[in-house]
Amino acid sequence: MPNPSFWAGKRVLVTGHTGFKGAWLSLWLLRMGAKPSGLALEPPTDPSLFSLAGLDRRMESHIGDIRDPAAVDAAVRAADPEILLHMAAQPLVRLSYDEPVETFATNVMGTVHVLEAARRAPSLRSIVVVTSDKCYENREWPWPYRETEPMGGHDPYSASKGCTELAAAAWRRSYFKKSGAALATVRAGNVIGGGDWALDRLIPDCMRALMNGRSVAVRNPHAIRPWQHVLEPLAGYLTLAEALHTDADAARRAELEDGWNFGPADSDARPVSWIVSRVVERWGDDAAWDLVGGDHPHEATHLRVDSSKARSRLGWEPRLDLSGCLDWTVEWFRRYQAGEGAEAITLDQIARYEQMDGKNP
Ligand SMILES: NC(=O)c1ccc[n+]([C@@H]2O[C@H](COP(=O)([O-])OP(=O)(O)OC[C@H]3O[C@@H](n4cnc5c(N)ncnc54)[C@H](O)[C@@H]3O)[C@@H](O)[C@H]2O)c1
Repeated sequence: MPNPSFWAGKRVLVTGHTGFKGAWLSLWLLRMGAKPSGLALEPPTDPSLFSLAGLDRRMESHIGDIRDPAAVDAAVRAADPEILLHMAAQPLVRLSYDEPVETFATNVMGTVHVLEAARRAPSLRSIVVVTSDKCYENREWPWPYRETEPMGGHDPYSASKGCTELAAAAWRRSYFKKSGAALATVRAGNVIGGGDWALDRLIPDCMRALMNGRSVAVRNPHAIRPWQHVLEPLAGYLTLAEALHTDADAARRAELEDGWNFGPADSDARPVSWIVSRVVERWGDDAAWDLVGGDHPHEATHLRVDSSKARSRLGWEPRLDLSGCLDWTVEWFRRYQAGEGAEAITLDQIARYEQMDGKNP
């Protein structure tokens, strides 16, 4: 769990701060007294948690494209960060089939631009590059992937995240290792929570339909994913960034500077149909879901990650099981629909999460 007294006053640059995870992370950083700044394109959705929470006024927000090295350089210089959390990306598998070049340009070359600017950032001590559980070569087997397994990716998005991992490792070995910031990469599962309105993602698709009184259209009911609440990987990223910044001992630094899985418990990897039926049940109002036929682009059927390393070496552990995660997600959208402010709901859930000392309150 992140230590608020460590984060208080820290200058933290978050790329992708206008997105779903970035907005949650920025609100959490502000709550802990950190000084976050951000670099991203305009919010990718309307509505967005970023805009609803007024984050453009509450942090130094740079709207810029990471495919443009000059824009990245300017934002990094202005922020003079001590910690860099790089999350900006084209994050959607289906869109990556339509826009493979843009996906690689943003996810791979965008990361290279961020790492290059990071080399010139004098105060930087700790870098966390966010990739994905999809970075592994997926063999469609039932076992969870460990950090030591080969990178790969069937579709352009997954392959771009595998390449991002390779680029980050090369920059670490070639530049940062000799002098400079400690760098790690992080691989989370399918993240869900309030305030996500992305297209072609299960929970936002569900919430759009349910809030408008429609039935939910489901494409890949049998696909198994490691579902987790957005606060779980964010707690992992913050814990790791803090350790990279603090743990000066060479052996510990060597251990930390690596890839890290932050997935849910194995039992929380469930098929899409299981998730949708539970969401619909929690929503009530006679909500329902339907199968959408037709040809859909390939998406992995089995995907789980093994997070034993984060548990044993960072003391990180998921706090919400899948049932709690769905409760909090449906609760967020219900409260939002009832007129409560997005920032207040989000901060309330962050506070409750911080106070949990075991699984589900
Ligand atoms: N949401 C998930 O389930 C999930 C799972 C695994 C990994 N991830 C990774 O987590 C990170 C955040 O994902 P998210 O769910 O918040 O996505 P999101 O779409 O909500 O946010 C993406 C962010 O990246 C920014 N961005 C996109 N292209 C950019 C560009 N060219 N230049 C600058 N900024 C750009 C957007 O403006 C936005 O701020 C991504 O790296 C994603 O691949 C997400």
